[in-house]
Order: sequence, then C-alpha cells, then structure tokens
Amino acid sequence: MVRTLDSIESIGVVGAGTMGSGIAQVAAQSGYDVVMRDIEEDFVQNGFDSIEDSLDRFVSKDKLSEDEAAQTLDRITGTTELSDLADCDVVVEAAVEDMDIKQDIFADLDEEIPEDVILATNTSTLSITTIASVTDREEQIVGLHFMNPVPVMKGVEVVVGEKTDDEVAEFAHELAEDLGKETWESDDKPGFVTNRILMPWINEGIRAYDEGVATKEDIDKGMKLGTNTPMGPLELADHIGLDICLDASQTLFEELGDRYKPAYLLKRKVDAGDLGKKTGKGFYEY
Ligand code: 3HC
Repeated sequence: MVRTLDSIESIGVVGAGTMGSGIAQVAAQSGYDVVMRDIEEDFVQNGFDSIEDSLDRFVSKDKLSEDEAAQTLDRITGTTELSDLADCDVVVEAAVEDMDIKQDIFADLDEEIPEDVILATNTSTLSITTIASVTDREEQIVGLHFMNPVPVMKGVEVVVGEKTDDEVAEFAHELAEDLGKETWESDDKPGFVTNRILMPWINEGIRAYDEGVATKEDIDKGMKLGTNTPMGPLELADHIGLDICLDASQTLFEELGDRYKPAYLLKRKVDAGDLGKKTGKGFYEY
C-alpha cells in the first residue's frame, strides 16, 4: 500500500546543508513536523542558522509574521542520529552528491525506517535507480529535486526511476505541491531535465571567461540582459557552489561524453577551495 498525502504529518530530512535546510524549512512552513539530520552537531546548527536567516528575510519583507516564523522553527527538530527519523512518514535525502555516500545512507534508511515509508532523494544528477538498488523498496524511491534557494524557487523536478511505482511518483508531485511548489517530471537520465541543460550552459560560460571572450562581468551581463535570466552563468555557478557544479558536470561527462566535460577552470577553482558564495570567493568575491 502506497502512502497517501493525507496520512503524512512528519517529514525526515537527511542533510542540513543548503538544500537540506531549505527543504526542512519549506516543509515546516507548510505545517509538517520535521526531523533534520546531519552527521555533526555543527552542521545541524548551521542548518538552523540558514533557516533563521531565510525566515528573517521573509519577515522583513512582510511575507511571514514573526509568530509564523517562530512556529516554523518550533516544528523542526535537529539530530545526528538517522534512527531519529524512524517515526517520520516520508524521508527526503539531501546529502552530498556522491553515489557511495548516498547508497550507504539509503541502505541505512532501508533498515531504520518502516518499509511502507517513501524515501525521496534530492540528487541533482545521480541515478535514482542506482541509489534505490541497495534497498528492498526500489518501487518506493523517487527523485525530488529542489532548486536553490529552496525557500524561494518555485520549481521541483520529480524524477522517476526504473522501478519507481506510478503511485509513488504521483505522491511526489502532490507532496511538492503541498510544499507550495510546481512540478515537472523527468525520466531517470543523467542530469534529468534541468542540470542536463543548465550545466553545459554554465561550463560554456566558464570556458568563454577562461578563453578571454569577455570579462566575467560582461559574460554575466550579456546572458542576463541578452536572454532575460536572473543570473549569468558565472554568478549562478557561485550561487549553486562550484563543487556542486563540478560533481554534476563530472556525472554528465561520465555518462554522456565529451560535450559535458567540466571546464578546466571549474576544476582549478574547486581544487583551490574557491567554491563560490559559500566560501566567500568563486568567480566573484562575497
Ligand atoms: N530565503 C528567503 N528569501 C530569499 C532567499 C532565501 N534564501 N533568497 C532570496 N530571497 C528573497 C529576497 O528576500 C527577495 O524577496 P523580494 O522579492 O520580496 O524582495 C527575493 O528573494 C529576491 O532576492 P534578492 O533581492 O536578494 O536577489 P535577487 O532578486 O537577485 O534574487 C534569486 C535572488 C532568487 C536567487 C535570483 O537571483 C534567482 O532566481 N537566481 C537564479 C537561481 C536559480 O537559477 N536557481 C536554480 C539553480 S539550479 C539548482 O538549484 C539545481 C541544482 O541541482 C544545481
């Protein structure tokens, strides 16, 4: 029996980084009790700090009252124990983009969490089918790919693995809609719809900069004003995180070949630890 949305009261989130804390926040803002788990206390605390910052922004723009912000925070419990998610009605994993780590987490979730609970992954490019293969509930696993910044971005990509049950995919659409999002669906192919198209755009922007086509400011300005996007490729790469862009590009390159090869300068920046906004320096300084 696949769970239906009206039986869901609590959501477990694995990972308290940018995406995990954003997902925990929108779930709590939508009235769900949330258990947010990361491997270290400091990571959990950082997650709470970004949720508070984001709620403060909504309050200062009169999009949320102080009471609603406080109630949202009250609905979120932090933990470092995966077993604390055992009573959650659905779990969304948003850990690092590494297949081995994700498979370890899913194998553990499969043991800790009741067998009728749907497990979703926020992976940006990795195969849902491969992640699900380490569990005994492959039909109950689905991709729920949120966009950064999660509290603001309207779209969520639902990714359907080889074994994902149709009703589980339907549940994923309904859950995302209940969190105030709009959805579209992608087959389980590398990069899905968004990153398959976005990462070559970002890499071409980096190559254009590295090869001296224009200054980074003019590349971003050209793409913003020329194609009406909110951010140019270099600014957007800093916003997403250069490490995330490199991981996503690497997966696309391995699965789909040369046209997806990560730009040389992207690798060099990541090797230097300049990961974008989150480290204070990427293509720009923050
Ligand atoms: N929490 C709460 N509110 C936030 C926020 C946050 N984390 N971040 C921004 N906001 C709010 C601001 O308060 C502001 O509200 P207002 O419209 O009421 O004034 C609004 O969002 C716009 O923010 P800013 O004025 O600070 O800045 P911008 O106008 O430049 O908008 C942006 C920021 C929303 C990030 C915008 O630049 C944008 O949409 N950029 C593109 C982001 C994008 O493409 N994301 C997807 C990346 S791909 C991805 O995530 C997939 C992954 O797998 C790689």
